[in-house]
Amino acid sequence: MSHARAVRRALITLAAAGALAISVGCTAGPAPSASVTASAPSANWDELGPIVYAQGKDTSGTVKAQVAEWNKANPNEQVELRELSESTDEQRDAMVERAKNKSGEFAVMAIDVVWTTEFAANGWLQELPSDRFPTGGYLKAAVDSGTYFDKLYAMPSTSDGALLYYRKDLLDKAGVQPPTTWAELQAACDKVLPSQDGMSCYGGQFDKYEGLTSNVAEAINSAGGSILNAQGQASVNSPEALAGLSWIVDGFTSGRIPAEAKTWQEEQSRAAFQSGKLLFLRNWPYMYELAEKDDRVAGRFAVAPLPGKDGPGVSTLGGQNLGISAFARNKGTALKFVNWMQTKEQQQRRLADASLAPVLEELYDEPALQAKIPYLKTLGDSIRTAQPRPKAARYSTDVSRAIQEEAHAAIDGTKDPQTALNDLQLRLEALVK
Ligand code: GLC
Repeated sequence: MSHARAVRRALITLAAAGALAISVGCTAGPAPSASVTASAPSANWDELGPIVYAQGKDTSGTVKAQVAEWNKANPNEQVELRELSESTDEQRDAMVERAKNKSGEFAVMAIDVVWTTEFAANGWLQELPSDRFPTGGYLKAAVDSGTYFDKLYAMPSTSDGALLYYRKDLLDKAGVQPPTTWAELQAACDKVLPSQDGMSCYGGQFDKYEGLTSNVAEAINSAGGSILNAQGQASVNSPEALAGLSWIVDGFTSGRIPAEAKTWQEEQSRAAFQSGKLLFLRNWPYMYELAEKDDRVAGRFAVAPLPGKDGPGVSTLGGQNLGISAFARNKGTALKFVNWMQTKEQQQRRLADASLAPVLEELYDEPALQAKIPYLKTLGDSIRTAQPRPKAARYSTDVSRAIQEEAHAAIDGTKDPQTALNDLQLRLEALVK
């Protein structure tokens, strides 16, 4: 038996025993249970009518414009855009609450790539047959992020890869190149910051939520470590993982990262960068267009790949996919709307207007687009080399929570990084068993 098949079989066995199964990359999650499959109504793809589309805050206004265009062309199949919180965790809460009540209120949902396993395993999502939801030409990792036991449950919609935003004006003035390692990043700050009152070196998302998991996983992977190894076993008690977590923790103790960043999610960190408080910021591509519209930083910043411990860093794979509630009416309209949102034209529009990463691979390699969109190549590289987070039915409630709690304890100084990692190792071992 091949190694991959052996791992897959082990995971399926775990799932069958009712334990939590975790996989790395593109293998398995817990098997769908008969009761779950039976409780999900089968889809009537011909039923048309009004639907609600729920997603996080539409910070750029682009999705509002898309929905308005759809509504103009489809008077009998109106889509109501329901904007949820900016916080990915709160978006999940709103969707889970409805799903637990078997409510189909949110017919179409933009679900974070890390929720697919949980939502599908619980029978909250309608399976999306491949003949009706074509994914040809899509990024493989994005398709995998919407797949559960070889079946598509969420249509790849927007991918995500982290970028290092930096103040190009200040680096240029100091004659410094964008850093490719953590030491170079620190050296750039040492050179630039003495003449910049009130500016800190580096920021990211360190509040206790899913963004912290993304940042910590990046730091660990960028130091050559891993949270789970290729066999799906906990692997955070390594010197590499310690180097990764310590880079964040030392950032706070040394002042490289401002103390207030302990409560930052994406939007607070964006505000800090745009108000001139940061030389470097790790964030997702969505903020590129927003910052370009802010006179305080427009034309003064650029993006580079994430730096790592001894060379280029590794992004966490992010993104949102479109799922259809198993409990929704008018699934025919949901199907048409999802496919329309994913046309090449609409993906290109979200990229141009809102710097949201497409899932259609060819868009990254089009010379005309590359010429127009200065960050496109860096973004494509970030996504193509990104590391997915573990797949698990209890990912948010158990796996990611353990990572957040232990990492935050180290950031707060209530545990030293080694103790936090030892504790995390034990918690993850208990979850994978
Ligand atoms: C972005 C990513 C998502 C990630 C979240 C963390 O929205 O696309 O995958 O979980 O940020 O805050």
